Amino acid sequence: MSETLYDLAIIGAGPGGYHAAIRAAQYGAKVALIEKSKLGGTCLNWGCIPTKALYASAHLIEQIREAEEFGVEVSEIKPNFAKAVERKNKVVEELVNGIGQLENAWKNDVYKGFGKVFGGDINSGFEISIQGEKDVEIMAKRVIIATGSSPALIPAFNIDHDKILTSDDILDPNFKTVPEKLLIIGAGVIGCEFANIFATFGSKVTMLEFLPSPIATEEPMIVKPLQKKFESLGIEILTSMNVISVENTGSGVKAITCSADVPRDQIDGAEKSIFEADLCLVSIGRAKESEFLGLEKLGIETVRGAIKVDPKTLETSAKGIYAIGDVTGGIMLAHVASYEGDVAVANALASIGGFPVSEMKTDYSIVPATIFTSPNIGSVGLRRKMAKDHGIDVIMGQFPYQSLGKAKCMGEEDGFLMVLAEKNTHRIVGASCIGAEAPELISEIALAMKHGLSVHDVGETIHSHPTISEMVLEACEAVVGKAIHKKGRPIFH
Ligand code: NAI
Repeated sequence: MSETLYDLAIIGAGPGGYHAAIRAAQYGAKVALIEKSKLGGTCLNWGCIPTKALYASAHLIEQIREAEEFGVEVSEIKPNFAKAVERKNKVVEELVNGIGQLENAWKNDVYKGFGKVFGGDINSGFEISIQGEKDVEIMAKRVIIATGSSPALIPAFNIDHDKILTSDDILDPNFKTVPEKLLIIGAGVIGCEFANIFATFGSKVTMLEFLPSPIATEEPMIVKPLQKKFESLGIEILTSMNVISVENTGSGVKAITCSADVPRDQIDGAEKSIFEADLCLVSIGRAKESEFLGLEKLGIETVRGAIKVDPKTLETSAKGIYAIGDVTGGIMLAHVASYEGDVAVANALASIGGFPVSEMKTDYSIVPATIFTSPNIGSVGLRRKMAKDHGIDVIMGQFPYQSLGKAKCMGEEDGFLMVLAEKNTHRIVGASCIGAEAPELISEIALAMKHGLSVHDVGETIHSHPTISEMVLEACEAVVGKAIHKKGRPIFH
């Protein structure tokens, strides 16, 4: 047994775990960070960052295709996916190395291997084994589990990592193929981001989605223009489709579907459709990584693989052990995992005592979400249906990019920002945006919401001109009939 007694051991170094480790060190804690694979986890290695690097290449291709209109003659455009992948790999490598350097700078001990809590309690400290190049055992007063998630696998989809792939396979540093025909199962966030990238690089993409709409979590008004844009890229989105099976045919893939309306026990006799392609991406959600961590022995409850936590403190059913991020099955977003890291660290260290931090409680009322398709999508707070379901009376303001000077200059005229405000108080309760820099615009609204601001507060804030951020100003003003560059309803209070 190692002599070292850590204040905090964190299992998993994704955006939840690596962030929590740095935060804990900032408070003066002695920290062990344990990672079985690569620092940065899914987000940096197989998720947010590599897809955004590939998106940047795809977006550039799109911009170059319009170069002539901007007075730039381009004789030939030759998309080179292999080069884009090399750039993506470099971006990932630099950021992953950066995380290692930060952990070093904060003097956190990074252990490479599979961490498992095998004994102990909140009074005597927890015993953790790390199985890696060499096996190590350490002790820690508190533990945070931040082991994340991995692509969900369904046996009938025969994911073979050869022709039937997950997003991890496509983002592998050596995957450099642009299939002529790509079949994507699941038109959620991951499916749509990849459809956009591969269609721009020249694939003929077909998407099969179970629900009646792609990215069903977003405002229908926002999804419509995306569908239109996808159509123009030749992407076919087939909704209400139940994918029964997928198989590798040797030369490609074959999926068999029936209508999503067919009851389970009648699938055999139902009318089927067959879809063939060169490769298939399965993006139907993610499974929690909670196996083999020793949870049962410690009395930590799980529900379908998700570690159950106190929703306010993030402590599990074992006192002194916390869980954050995707493994808890909550909102599966990198920035939520990092935020939860802050909460769990505060609660863990406050329970030890002697650190300059007090207990924290989670607040998920304002969680921005982003989708990096072209155009981008961003949203925060309530959608109209949610407002209705919660019995909140809202008024809406909208502002289109085509009416904004800066957007016109940039040739970014597609899309709009819509803001929802409480009818009586005009307090902002939600916003959805499709268009250039949508995720950045949503950040300003998230901050306004966090501080309970009304559309008037934002309207009375001088926004620099000409900027895309004026979209926020105009959309907030539009809620009360005050947008200058759009004829709307008369002013009312
Ligand atoms: P998702 O839950 O967003 O979408 C999965 C889609 O697959 C859903 O629309 C679902 O109806 C559909 N589906 C499920 N089973 C199906 C079946 N048998 N046949 C056809 N369709 C089926 O999951 P996704 O896209 O895999 O993303 C996983 C997680 O990663 C999400 O929580 C997402 O928010 C997060 N993520 C966030 C990103 C961002 O913030 N930009 C980027 C990528 C992922």
